[in-house]
Amino acid sequence: MTNLSDVAQKGLGQMAAGITKRQTRKILAYYSIAFNLLFIKREQTMTTDYRLIIKPTNIADLEHFFQFQLDDEAIYLAAFTPKDPADKKAYIDKISNALSKPTTTMRTIFVNDNIVGSVAKFDMEGEAHITYWIDKAYWGKGVTTQAFKEFLIIETTRPIFGSAAFDNFASQRVMEKCGFEKIGTDKGFANARNAEIEEFIYKLI
Ligand SMILES: CC(C)(COP(=O)(O)OP(=O)(O)OC[C@H]1O[C@@H](n2cnc3c(N)ncnc32)[C@H](O)[C@@H]1OP(=O)(O)O)[C@@H](O)C(=O)NCCC(=O)NCCS
Repeated sequence: MTNLSDVAQKGLGQMAAGITKRQTRKILAYYSIAFNLLFIKREQTMTTDYRLIIKPTNIADLEHFFQFQLDDEAIYLAAFTPKDPADKKAYIDKISNALSKPTTTMRTIFVNDNIVGSVAKFDMEGEAHITYWIDKAYWGKGVTTQAFKEFLIIETTRPIFGSAAFDNFASQRVMEKCGFEKIGTDKGFANARNAEIEEFIYKLI
C-alpha cells in the first residue's frame, strides 16, 4: 500500500526533476484522490443533518460556481473541463449563454442557506444532458444525490443522458443512485488529464 512519505518523496522528486507547476498540481490532485480513496472514504458516513434546497440559478450565483470549479482535485475528477478553468470571463460567458437558452434548466444547491453547487440539464445536438458540480467542502455527504433527485422531479425530459470519466466513481455512483443505467463508453480528449481517456455514458429513461 502507498504510504504518505512515499507520496511526498515521489512528488518532491518529480518537482526536483524539473516538471512544470501545472504538472505538479495535477500530480498532487492525483495523490489527493488516491489518499481519499485509501483512507478517508472508509471512515465516511453519510449524514443528512442539513437543510438542502434547490432554486433557479441567478447570474450572481455563477461567482460561487466559478470558485468551486477552480479546485485541482475537482478539475482532475471532472476531467472534461475547459482548457483554462481559471479564465473567469470565459466561464461566466459560457454559463450565462447556456442559462439564457430555453432548453437549459439550472438549479443552485443551497445547504443551510449557503450556495454549495449546481445541477443542470442542457441540450447537446438535440439530446438532454446533465451536469453537476459541488464545493469540495461538501463532498461525501449525499448532497449531490439528494439535489439531483429533486432536480429530476422538476426536469422531466426523458431520455436524459450523463457521462463521467472512467475513474470518477463519485459521479458514476450519483447517477446510478438516481436511476441512470450505464449504456456504453466513449473516448474523448480530457483537458484536465492532457490525454484521451475513456468516459462512461449513462441514460435515464
Ligand atoms: C461528483 C460529485 C458531484 C459528487 O458529489 P457528492 O455530493 O460528494 O456525492 P454524494 O455525497 O451524493 O455521493 C454519491 C455516492 O458517491 C460515493 N462517493 C463519493 N465520493 C467517492 C469517491 N471518492 N470514491 C468512490 N465513491 C464516492 C458516495 O459514497 C455515494 O455512494 P454511496 O451512497 O453508495 O456510498 C463531486 O465529487 C464533484 O463536484 N466533483 C467535481 C465535479 C464533477 O466531477 N462533476 C461531475 C462531472 S461528470
